Amino acid sequence: MKAKKIAVVGSANMDLVMRVKDFPKPGETLAGKDFTTAHGGKGANQAVAAARLGAQVSFIGAVGRDAFGTQQRNGLKAEGIDLRYLKSDETRPTGTAIILVADSGENMIILDAGANQSLRPEDIPPLKGHFEAVDHLVCQLETPHETILEALGLAKSCNCFSILDVAPASPLPPEFTARADLVTPNESEAEILTGIRVDSLESARKAAETILSWGTRHVVMKLGAKGSYYLGESECFVPSFEVQAVDTTGAGDAFTAALATVWGTLPVADALRFSNAAGALAATVSGAQPSMPALKEVVRLAGITFSEQ
Ligand code: RIB
Repeated sequence: MKAKKIAVVGSANMDLVMRVKDFPKPGETLAGKDFTTAHGGKGANQAVAAARLGAQVSFIGAVGRDAFGTQQRNGLKAEGIDLRYLKSDETRPTGTAIILVADSGENMIILDAGANQSLRPEDIPPLKGHFEAVDHLVCQLETPHETILEALGLAKSCNCFSILDVAPASPLPPEFTARADLVTPNESEAEILTGIRVDSLESARKAAETILSWGTRHVVMKLGAKGSYYLGESECFVPSFEVQAVDTTGAGDAFTAALATVWGTLPVADALRFSNAAGALAATVSGAQPSMPALKEVVRLAGITFSEQ
């Protein structure tokens, strides 16, 4: 498979993670265990996942001039990611996420965006030459929304195919999804965007139709352990793989990155199967970036073969 060139515009965080039996209720104090720190941030997670799946990746974001920022930089560099466009914020600390992971594998996340906020719309136009040179742009919503809108607009003017992961969930004006070529909500994000509760294939179709009506060309809905659903030039549902989930943090990021890596190379149903496999494997390992799977693991689980190109 010819390596895709992927630019990721997004967040980099340090995740402070603790495991709990169940999530606490307001006012409750619970015993947690296994405290650890892990490199995270939806943007950086997707950059790392795409790099491990064989893509040539650049990461456009911002970290603080602090120990967490240095650790993030070193971690991304070790994955071979191009960091020419990673800013250092003089005043704000690196983004930090406090994450609780329950025994069920589900998580709760509280984010202080910190330095991620300093990625501004005016940082985007100088990237024109870079966007012209890459195959895909991948964005999420943990950096300022006006910056993401600018990046999607620049990608469109450069004929660079753009993927918008609408996470974390947020109501958005339709121009966001209209500027993206492909939108990847999960069930709750789709509900917040469209007002349609997604709890069946029929409701997934209705929500996807609504998002398509705003102007994007493709919707890939992440349905968690159930699988994923595509609506655009055709329609398909692809069931996921059964795995023992220990921590779902970053599983959606692994899915989106995998999709970016194979979109346009594999038929849509195979691209969803490959992405389902990446998301499922990420859920079997604790931590966000530590859980991003290698290409050969994903290929093995998905049972996909790539023709040489
Ligand atoms: O998608 C998971 C990520 O969300 C975590 O790594 C955390 O940093 C938050 O950004």
